[in-house]
Amino acid sequence: MLSAPGVLAMSELLVYGSYGYTGTLVAEQAVAGGLDPILAGRSREAVEEQAAALDCRGRVFTTEDPATVADYLEGVDVVLNCAGPFVHTAEPFVEACLTTGTHYLDITGEWQVFRDVAEHDDRATESGVMLLPGVGFDVVPSDCLAAHLHDRLPSATVLSLALGGLGGTSCGTAKTMVENIGEDGVVRRDGELVRVPTAHDDREIPFSYGDRTAMAIPWGDVVTAYHSTGIPNVTVYSETHPKTVARLRRFRRLLPLLSSAPVQKLLTWLIDRRIDGPDEQQLEEGSGELWGEATDGADRVVSRLRTPNPYALTRDTALLTARRALGGDAPAGFQTPSTAYGADLVLEVSGVERTDVGGV
Ligand SMILES: NC(=O)c1ccc[n+]([C@@H]2O[C@H](COP(=O)([O-])OP(=O)(O)OC[C@H]3O[C@@H](n4cnc5c(N)ncnc54)[C@H](OP(=O)(O)O)[C@@H]3O)[C@@H](O)[C@H]2O)c1
Repeated sequence: MLSAPGVLAMSELLVYGSYGYTGTLVAEQAVAGGLDPILAGRSREAVEEQAAALDCRGRVFTTEDPATVADYLEGVDVVLNCAGPFVHTAEPFVEACLTTGTHYLDITGEWQVFRDVAEHDDRATESGVMLLPGVGFDVVPSDCLAAHLHDRLPSATVLSLALGGLGGTSCGTAKTMVENIGEDGVVRRDGELVRVPTAHDDREIPFSYGDRTAMAIPWGDVVTAYHSTGIPNVTVYSETHPKTVARLRRFRRLLPLLSSAPVQKLLTWLIDRRIDGPDEQQLEEGSGELWGEATDGADRVVSRLRTPNPYALTRDTALLTARRALGGDAPAGFQTPSTAYGADLVLEVSGVERTDVGGV
């Protein structure tokens, strides 16, 4: 059933990109959990089919024009945007949400998106609107871990976070990675975002399952962890085979060539044909791990988080935060998961365990 804009009662959740891989996980779980979300996206056929299957209302609109988006958000309290790459969709949604007084959540991990959304902090605070990007695996667990480490060592000046043991990716994640493939890395140094060459740094990380090489990656925490903790130096690492690190360094001057339109088109075409996203068993049985270290030069604290499969976690954290916002718990302004809901937020998700490995 498709509905016209502007005729909704309050306490409404709209999930945009609801028929993508992750959007579907979110939409199905929302309905199973008793919510009645409005399902939305740009494909009429896909929205109608999903809305009929889940017995939900549907809305069809594109995101290019914030005024159009605002028309379709009238009466909506909370938007959960699952349509990425978010460099294309976050900004119009944020503009629209500031017009309609709707709280904005998304599942981006793109550091540029966090940086740009944070620019709207003042307007959001004035309008009483919460802007909370990154309510998925990027960056709920890592942001909560950063805040926890900062609580343990408030004098910390250097924060390192590392992701390990991750399983397969979805089509949309692969496309988002491909869009950024020609970009340099980025870290936070002395409070500033600094561009660095791809794979500029690697280190051995003592994950619970053994020491593994991890490579610096341009992850959203270079923006969010700084916002959450004020720690002025932040680097994020991801477990990577040493041969891959060596190859990336050898070929990094060629990476910008992969940003050209024809290569992007080819890579996107390949992704559409080759990548499906984790199946039900992988969602059920998979896991992820985050390792974090904070130091002030003299003292050092280390903690780890064990999580379910990243896509299962994304589904659960997206809905956990959306429910909070729907219930009126939505602090105004630009927020990170931990500034909005505290360092222990992620522990509310079934299957998440935090361990303080120790201080040295
Ligand atoms: N934070 C996290 O940990 C996390 C976890 C999972 C996914 N993600 C991110 O979420 C995004 C979606 O992932 P996915 O696996 O669900 O991908 P997917 O299966 O490819 O779905 C993408 C969805 O977004 C829509 N979309 C894409 N670009 C759009 C645009 N410009 N305007 C309107 N709709 C647009 C697509 O609609 P059409 O089919 O009509 O193009 C589709 O509904 C990716 O950026 C991924 O990196 C993040």
